[in-house]
Amino acid sequence: MSSSPTERGEWSSKIGFILAAAGSAIGLGNIWRFPYTAGENGGAAFLFLYLLCILFIGLPVMIAELSIGRRTRKDPVGAFDAIKPKSPWRLIGFMGVFTGLAILAYYCVIAGVTVGYIAKTVSYNTTSFSEYTANPLMTIPLLLLFVVLTVLVVQGGVRNGIERWAKILMPLLLILMVVLIIRSVTLEGASRGLSFYLKPDFSKITGKTFLAALGQAFFSLSLGMGAMITYGSYLSKKDNIVTSGIFVSFFDTLIAVMAGLLIFPALFFAGVSPDAGPGLVFEVLPVIFAKLPGGTLIGASFFLLLSVAALTSTISLLEVVTAYLVDEKHILRKRAVWFVAAVAFLFGIPSALSFGAVEWLSDLPLVGMSFFGFMDWLFGNVMLAVGAVFISIFFGWVWKRVKSTTEIEEGCPGYSAWAPVILFLLRFFCPIAIAIVLFFKFKDLIAG
Ligand code: PHE
Repeated sequence: MSSSPTERGEWSSKIGFILAAAGSAIGLGNIWRFPYTAGENGGAAFLFLYLLCILFIGLPVMIAELSIGRRTRKDPVGAFDAIKPKSPWRLIGFMGVFTGLAILAYYCVIAGVTVGYIAKTVSYNTTSFSEYTANPLMTIPLLLLFVVLTVLVVQGGVRNGIERWAKILMPLLLILMVVLIIRSVTLEGASRGLSFYLKPDFSKITGKTFLAALGQAFFSLSLGMGAMITYGSYLSKKDNIVTSGIFVSFFDTLIAVMAGLLIFPALFFAGVSPDAGPGLVFEVLPVIFAKLPGGTLIGASFFLLLSVAALTSTISLLEVVTAYLVDEKHILRKRAVWFVAAVAFLFGIPSALSFGAVEWLSDLPLVGMSFFGFMDWLFGNVMLAVGAVFISIFFGWVWKRVKSTTEIEEGCPGYSAWAPVILFLLRFFCPIAIAIVLFFKFKDLIAG
């Protein structure tokens, strides 16, 4: 980022962008949210649906977001406005920015707990996840810590902040996961876990499984709220949008699939139930660490790297809201960042208190879930899916076909041969499929 606080940056290299976008995508969504969502939704059948959602819905939406971002070089609100000036489409951008803020708020709660688990591991503290998170003196300071960490990186701007972090630490996480998987699959009873995770029982698929898989695909790929529009806005015309999108989606999916291989075999060994919810990985991982020589060090390193993965995701969430305030409201970058962070912290407090610290927040009347669970359901599933419907329609029907094709062709010669396929998916398949899933979800909700 240059010294002028409102000037926009650009990625210093192609690999810088890919790593940053992969950094946004790879995070708690893969390692914490994916395993427990798969566990709650039947394991292998969920995995199967999830992979289909990534391929036929996630990938096209990713290409749509990146190209809208690069074409307009704007935050999500400005981007819709630039292509379709003075239209209600900017509301979709605005909805994305708000969704980003809401996700940031509750995401930092779990990210904070991850940081806490570094200390918990090295101090041989054996408190359970539910006891640990029921303590507001734990969750609130950790939430604050994580919000501040995110601010410190985002303040550095695109080049110094986001890129440098992503480059160094993501590969380390991958290596450590491979080591842990090897231990997990050689534990006693591992085969039961593997068959739960890999042998689909399609009778377990319900309407709920579909929304869970679709929502998880959007959440994990950071789609549906403009994060990839914002990151795409820092891409240069030389970059290849299609291969970058494929690369990011592939790595994100790889890490999620690996997280499943890590958790499920150990879960059966440890006797934890697959539908244990958000505490699942925090309960299961220490069991694997205990089975390794130097487990304390390995455990602490794992939580450290997971915290960094979470950080590269919160950076992107904060960046979306910041880019909006800087581009549209002309607020100084530094001021915008602190303002958003303060709001995210306050907005995160009820989530931090909903793991047992405050009873009614932990079991909200009427909705039957915790405040945290409700935020994740509403913003992390539903709103991302709603956002993705509109982004697909915008790309497919509002943005002129020639224009979108020309934009993607730059840096990706030969795209025009594929354009009809991408356009078909974004015009018809994605909006209709997502809308059907949402419709059944709401029908369920009203009936239930
Ligand atoms: N994709 C991130 C993860 O998997 C979370 C995220 C969602 C980040 C939406 C940005 C936008 O952890």
